[in-house]
Amino acid sequence: MNDLDDLDLLARLTAGADMQTTHRDPEHHVRALRLVDGPMGVTGRLLDERDVSLLAPCGSALAATWNRATVEAVGELLGEQAAARDVDVLLGPNLNLSRSPAGGRDFEHFGEDPYLAGVLGAAWITGVQSKGVAACAKHLVCNDTETGRHGYDVQVDEQTLHEVYLAPFAAAARAGVWAMMAAYNKVNGRHCAEHHGLLTRVLREQWDWDGVVMSDWFGTHSTTASLTAGLDLEMPGPARYLGPAAAGAVRAGDVAASTVERAVERLALLSRRTAGRTAPTRPAAEARRVLHEAAADSFVLLKNDRTVLPLSDDTSVAVIGPQADEPAYQGGTFARIALGPEVRTPLAALREALGPRVTAYEPGAPSESRVPSLLPLDPRAADSPGAPGFTVTYHRVGTDGAVSEPLATDTRATGILVWFTELPGIGALADLPTGSAGLVRASCLLTPETDGTYDFHFAGTGDVRLLIDGQESGRGGSRALPADVMGALLHGDITRVPVELTAGRQVRIDFEMRFTGGGRAQGMQFGGRAAAPADLAARAVHAARAADTAIVFAGVSQDSSLESQDRDSLALPAAQIDLIERVCAVNPRTVVVVNAPFAVDMPWADRAAAVLLTWFPGQEYGPALADVLTGALEPGGRLPVTLARADADHAVTSTAPSDDGRLTYAEGPLIGYRHFDALHTTPRFCFGHGLGYADVRWRAAHLYADPTGRHLALVGVTLDSAAGRPGKEVVQVYAVPLTDTGTVEPGRPEQHLVGFAAVEVSPEPAELRVDIPLDVRDFSMWDTRAGTWKPRAGRWEIRLGRSSRDIFHRFRVYVDQAGDLRTGPIG
Ligand code: BGC
Repeated sequence: MNDLDDLDLLARLTAGADMQTTHRDPEHHVRALRLVDGPMGVTGRLLDERDVSLLAPCGSALAATWNRATVEAVGELLGEQAAARDVDVLLGPNLNLSRSPAGGRDFEHFGEDPYLAGVLGAAWITGVQSKGVAACAKHLVCNDTETGRHGYDVQVDEQTLHEVYLAPFAAAARAGVWAMMAAYNKVNGRHCAEHHGLLTRVLREQWDWDGVVMSDWFGTHSTTASLTAGLDLEMPGPARYLGPAAAGAVRAGDVAASTVERAVERLALLSRRTAGRTAPTRPAAEARRVLHEAAADSFVLLKNDRTVLPLSDDTSVAVIGPQADEPAYQGGTFARIALGPEVRTPLAALREALGPRVTAYEPGAPSESRVPSLLPLDPRAADSPGAPGFTVTYHRVGTDGAVSEPLATDTRATGILVWFTELPGIGALADLPTGSAGLVRASCLLTPETDGTYDFHFAGTGDVRLLIDGQESGRGGSRALPADVMGALLHGDITRVPVELTAGRQVRIDFEMRFTGGGRAQGMQFGGRAAAPADLAARAVHAARAADTAIVFAGVSQDSSLESQDRDSLALPAAQIDLIERVCAVNPRTVVVVNAPFAVDMPWADRAAAVLLTWFPGQEYGPALADVLTGALEPGGRLPVTLARADADHAVTSTAPSDDGRLTYAEGPLIGYRHFDALHTTPRFCFGHGLGYADVRWRAAHLYADPTGRHLALVGVTLDSAAGRPGKEVVQVYAVPLTDTGTVEPGRPEQHLVGFAAVEVSPEPAELRVDIPLDVRDFSMWDTRAGTWKPRAGRWEIRLGRSSRDIFHRFRVYVDQAGDLRTGPIG
């Protein structure tokens, strides 16, 4: 083989083969790698209900555990699942930060603190990679919000970049992550996928990291600039900028051949690293137990007046609120996981746990899902009677408007149909002749159990019609944004059509979408439910008054958390707020369970007896929640984000880039609790806050030199459990640089988290000593002039506490230029 051929072979490897795989070349020891979306689970090939998978708690939930062991166990399980599905690279964790509580993907982030995100992100990575599957830390860097993500240009100073936004990625590199994904956006003028400063100076030179760096999907913009910046792999395939074009750039003399060779060496290393992934999967019940315990470990008990929780054995309970029966288990991004039939709602799990003590269930407010599933109404596929779900037929429409016979037929059990590139029977979208169209029809037979009005909902990337017994009853749909079919479906217009149905009388329902060619994807979403009775809230209030305890399930739907879009409100839906207020007014023992993965407003919190925040908790939500409410498990969570008293109190409320595309990180390092500290604003619930059931007492604090010499010092506390029940305590350590005048340095955080330990407390009275290591890095700052970290010489305070504002003890220490730490009198 001559040199030119070899260059072509090498170059081909630098771009993906298709959406999920790369090219193989045994001669260069590169396997065809399969890259699949995470991070809440391992998405299937089909991305729909035919390919179910396990669903773990979301990133903010995992961060709320403050528990390395829990997060690593979830990582191991996902690694095992990925290995069993022949996946080489699981696309997660998401190590961007919750800079603003409005961020559309906050649910994936490990909260607002770079240290917490780094430590727990690293634990997730360690877990996944222990099964021989690569994790891929994404999105490097500053893709912290979604509005305009493909183009915005983050303006951020270098010190903030290193100390805040790069810090979790640095932790991932130290943990040995095998791959990273460059973000869509620009940072200081350059797209991340062609940013030499990031991809070479930081990743390779400063961090000495040897993994593969790939672009986010369709996030490569150039050949020469990307290769010379250090991008190894363009995703997805087929190639647009790398691949064959990389060979062209070498031949033109624009790129050194060694650059392409080095990218292929890294791909070969990744191939070797993932070659041994043959993990046996554990029994399903064991796998689910991991997710169950992780979910419980993430629930944050924000308040618990009069010890209303755990529920006592004789209390009667009214279950109120739409999220009890229609919870949000996950976010609404492409990485959605199709759930299996074993999933139980909180309502079902509570009924199972409490039996007749659940005296009532009342939704009290409309459900938040934009398109409710029809499946609870038991639809039967129209053309294969008896089969649950829908018959889906695919047709072409001629230029004369004639609809063909079905070209393909499926039976599906979902109301979300999405097709990438081609449709069964119809063929490739790109090949639909001009003037002709495709048509998809989803049909079912429905026999309502009750008389009344039913609301049917639908949306699509073409023109959608609803037919009841062959009669058109409504029209809607919208044009697809060519690259954003999920966007069009998930935040496009929904049409709602009320239809009167009679109990026991079967009707045929068709949802039919007509679309023209072009674009990369098409989708149709449809559903429906019985219309809500007018006295919904009044019935709930009545039920709440009659029970000893009312549990109100509030929250957001998965549509609150999307790619390409941020939120414009942090409030719960108005009808839910009203419901909470009304129930609290009639039942002093009201528990509010908030199923939301970001820092939602809780202006009603003072009126509820207890508030439990449950994030997007994954598939074991129901059973885990029943265990926590009854006290079988501890609510293990502590806040990884700050909950404000008012939206305006947050550091960043607007996520919109300016007209010239700039997104300026004007707040510097002062995000999250650092901002509240700087402005002396009292949050509603502060970073690190969370209550447990066990009575754990803090005794003495200690600080001393590490006898092994591995760490700078060990700091800690002795805990006493008088608990009588097993419990959990999270010991948190914050470092505070002190000035001579005792004030905070302008623009700098007052305190930052430098250590924590999640401690299990046994039921027997015992003394427990907790040691947390401190390192030079904890007392260092990024020196922009020197381009490196340097110890900040001077006085420091080390705070030990239960949260960022509940401080048990303060030590004063002195750190010198060499990074040595002295205790004792420091003047
Ligand atoms: C997301 C990534 C994801 C990729 C592949 C992109 O839209 O930003 O997080 O891994 O798609 O699905």
